[in-house]
Order: sequence, then structure tokens, then C-alpha cells
Amino acid sequence: MSTAVPDSPLINAVTTASDASALDDLWNLDDEMPRNNAGTGEILHFAVRCAILAPSSHNSQPWQFKILNDGLLLIKDRSRSLPVVDPYDRELIISCGAALFNIRVALAHVGISARFDVLPDPLDEDLLVRVTVDHAMSVSHDDLIAPLLSAIPKRVTNRSRFSADALSTEVISKLQHAAKTEWAKLSVAISVGEREAIAALVAAADLTQFSDERFRHELASWLHPSRSHDGLAAFSNELEKTLDFATPLVALVVRTFDVGNGRAAHDKALPEGSPLLACISTATDDASAWLMAGQALQRVLLTAAQEGLAVSYLNQPIEVETARSALAALMDTERFPQLLLRVGRGIAPAHSPRRKLADVIS
Ligand SMILES: Cc1cc2nc3c(=O)[nH]c(=O)nc-3n(C[C@H](O)[C@H](O)[C@H](O)COP(=O)(O)O)c2cc1C
Repeated sequence: MSTAVPDSPLINAVTTASDASALDDLWNLDDEMPRNNAGTGEILHFAVRCAILAPSSHNSQPWQFKILNDGLLLIKDRSRSLPVVDPYDRELIISCGAALFNIRVALAHVGISARFDVLPDPLDEDLLVRVTVDHAMSVSHDDLIAPLLSAIPKRVTNRSRFSADALSTEVISKLQHAAKTEWAKLSVAISVGEREAIAALVAAADLTQFSDERFRHELASWLHPSRSHDGLAAFSNELEKTLDFATPLVALVVRTFDVGNGRAAHDKALPEGSPLLACISTATDDASAWLMAGQALQRVLLTAAQEGLAVSYLNQPIEVETARSALAALMDTERFPQLLLRVGRGIAPAHSPRRKLADVIS
């Protein structure tokens, strides 16, 4: 596939200085840490503050939080769904699962135990989780995740080329353990042959998606430069001016792998620049499994960030239903693939924007 792109200065977000400092503040959790004698309300606000830093498909941030006297509700925000790329809200719920994991980390960090009731109301499928603080519970099984708090602001989706150096088996085991403790499985592709086969599947699925006009329109709406608190703003003005949305190239740059200056990965660049490909899968494929996948994703991502690793996504063969079973076979898993990640070491990009807390708390 050709990668010729007009000389586009595809730089990170076209942000003003004040936007940039507001963004920096958002990712600085140190100043927001609840005081020792903080009340439940303050702690829950802090937990939501951490939740909104989670990754989400197209940076759609499809969540709402309702803070109660003794806990909070995590509710899916259907108005932020992606009907073309994610018709069953699978990625939407995975994104909410990642936000839930940050809530668990935040509560564990301040030493608060809580009960997590998943999909607690059969008549309200938008209500994903009810969190109830339980001061009587002395031991939390979440204690182990408390140290991951410092990794929350370090985590960022990094679509750059990673150094080709192989990851140690020790670090790979840590990532696999992170997924396993959240009831998911992380299968890995390490050899060049395996990575090339998966890269070919990604490229084919990318083409399938990009040949669908509805997919292009949906993606374009999340890339729009008018978006300042959500969406894929890192690719805003310059991308829109210089790249034609009717070419698959844009999807490759934006959703897969940017080898710099707006050039998408090609041929062998993807496997070469991704020393590890890893697939998170679950035993079932329903809302509760997607919530698990989201928590597993965030646990893997925070563990990776703690290890100084960079991660981004190659979800196309999971989003294109016909490619999903081929991916499962290549990844040697009989389970349902939920996320395909590239993992390595690379220079971290700037953070993407987030919605204001006031807009996600009701
Ligand atoms: C369920 C899910 C699916 C995602 N799929 C992709 C993808 O296919 N390609 C990609 O480049 N990024 C993907 N992302 C990453 C988001 O675009 C990213 O999280 C978002 O833009 C916010 O940026 P941040 O992760 O740096 O905070 C996905 C994230 C989630 C949670």
C-alpha cells in the first residue's frame, strides 16, 4: 500500500496555551488527592476525576456518573455511541469498564472499600455499575491495585512507531497477569511471522471499514476541529486540510499507526514498529464481559505505563465481524477477542482532551 501523503505537518493538537494548561491540570492528580479526613463525597469526586482519564473509543467518553450519599452510579451515555463502528455498544461498555477500573484504583488508593454491583437493574440496561462505599469492609481485594494510581496520568494512547527491541518475558507475564486477575485473557504474538499475519488482517479490515461511507462520516465527526473536549483532536485542523477523508490512509494514520508527519504505517512497518501484539479476550460476549474487558484493558494499560511501555490499538479485525474469528485463530484463543493492542517502547505523545467534570456528573 502506498503511503504518499501530502507533506502535512501532522502535529499534535492545535491547542492554545490556556487549553494546554487546563489539560495539564486535568492530568495532575497530586493536587487533587483527598485529604486524610476527607468525607465520602470528596473521595467519590476524586474517583470520578480519575475515571474520566480512562481511554475511550474515538475519545467519545461515553459515561455519566451520579454521586449518591454512599456511593455512585456509572451510567452509559448513549448519546455518545458510535453506531457504525460499534453497533452493539461493545466498545462503549469496554470504555466504561476502563473508567470503572480507575474508580477502583482511586478508592483503593485512599483506603476505601466498596461493593461493585454490575448491571444491577435488569430494567435499566444503561445503569452499568452501582458502587457502594462500605466502611465496615476492612479488607478490600482491591488493595493490590492502589499503587497503579500514579500510572493513571502516565497512560496515553501512543500511535507512534515503537523501538524494535523485544520485551522481556517477565514484563509480558506481568501484562498477562494483569488481564487474568480481571477475568480476561491476554494472548500475545511475538514472532515476526505472527505479527505479519495479524498486520495483514488489520490492513484488510481497515480497508473494509474505510470503504463504508458511513464509517468515514462517523470518524470524521469525531475528528472535527470544533471538538475541544472530546474526539480525536490530535488530528484536528491540519489533518482536515491536507488529507482526503475518502482515502483509507486517513484511517490508518488516525486509528492505527502514525509513522510521523502524517504518514501511515505500511507493509512491514506495523509489525516492525510493534514488538508485541496482544489480544484481550473474554469467555463470553455480553455487557458484563465487556465491562470485564474494559477493566482488564485498563489494568493492562496501567501496568504497562508503570513499566514505561507504550500501547495503542489495532481493533479493526475485531470491529469487522468476519475478521474476528480469523484473529481468534491467529491469536490461538477460543475466546472472544475484545481488544487488539500493540505494545513497545516509544516517546509519549501529548494527552487528549477530556470533558469537564461538571458535564459528566449528574
Ligand atoms: C474500547 C476502545 C477502543 C479503541 N480503539 C482504538 C482504535 O481502534 N484505534 C486507535 O488508534 N485508538 C483506539 N482507542 C484509543 C482511543 O482513541 C483513545 O483512548 C482516546 O483517543 C483518548 O486518548 P488517550 O487514550 O490517549 O487518553 C480505543 C480506546 C478504547 C477504550
